[in-house]
Amino acid sequence: MAKKPGSAGKSGKPKGNSGRGDGARMMATRVKTASGRKVGSTLWLQRQLNDPYVLKAQADGYRSRAAYKLVELDDRFGFLKPGLRIADLGAAPGGWTQVAAQRTGAVSGKSPPIIGMDIQEMDPIEGAELMLLDIFAEDAIPLIQAALGGEADIVLSDMAPSTTGHKNTDQIRIAGLAEAAYDVAKQLLADDGIFIVKVFQGGAPPDLLAELKRDFRQVRHVKPPASRQGSPEMYLVATGYRGVRPALG
Ligand SMILES: C[S@@+](CC[C@H](N)C(=O)[O-])C[C@H]1O[C@@H](n2cnc3c(N)ncnc32)[C@H](O)[C@@H]1O
Repeated sequence: MAKKPGSAGKSGKPKGNSGRGDGARMMATRVKTASGRKVGSTLWLQRQLNDPYVLKAQADGYRSRAAYKLVELDDRFGFLKPGLRIADLGAAPGGWTQVAAQRTGAVSGKSPPIIGMDIQEMDPIEGAELMLLDIFAEDAIPLIQAALGGEADIVLSDMAPSTTGHKNTDQIRIAGLAEAAYDVAKQLLADDGIFIVKVFQGGAPPDLLAELKRDFRQVRHVKPPASRQGSPEMYLVATGYRGVRPALG
């Protein structure tokens, strides 16, 4: 699988691109249903245009409103510290990787690795290395280990499948991604490492939760404020890795 190295601008702090300050008054935007556009799409567009996190992400230079979920998790738990090695699974378009690189003060080529990977291409991020990679690929783990140059202190997974609209199918695919994320994470994590993973509908699949409780000192279910109230997503924050690395099958 091709690997796309990251580089980017100098500061590591994303530049604002809307020119609008946080305190600026914002007018609610109404979207007319265009012929051919479904009502659901129109509501989505209207919600995007009026979502304060979307507007803030534009002002702060983040590529996604999702960036604030990691900002809020880190504000609460304080895990992003200078010098840490981080793997971000399902990173596109790159909001979490931007936050991880900034908050650890990463400088491309000079500091310990911050690796963002996804099946979708991403533009370069200062301080991070980006990989075009399906975490289900046979060689995914050795490729990530090689990019990290060893272990990871933190493994993040905000991975989500493209939804089918069929509730049970989506549920199974989401649970499968969370389990796959941990299969990768336990090959990467250093002692006392941290694993953060997106889960849905009342928490992790029971087997995964049991495994995490065995392998980490503390496991919490958290819904950061930036996660939409209507969304069933939440995050598992598992700290203090004490698991035994399984042999690669
Ligand atoms: C919600 S988005 C991540 C948003 C990101 N955290 C941010 O802040 O910009 C979920 C991502 O998971 C990725 N994904 C889904 N399945 C994947 C897989 N098997 N391997 C790698 N990435 C995957 C999708 O391509 C998508 O970009």
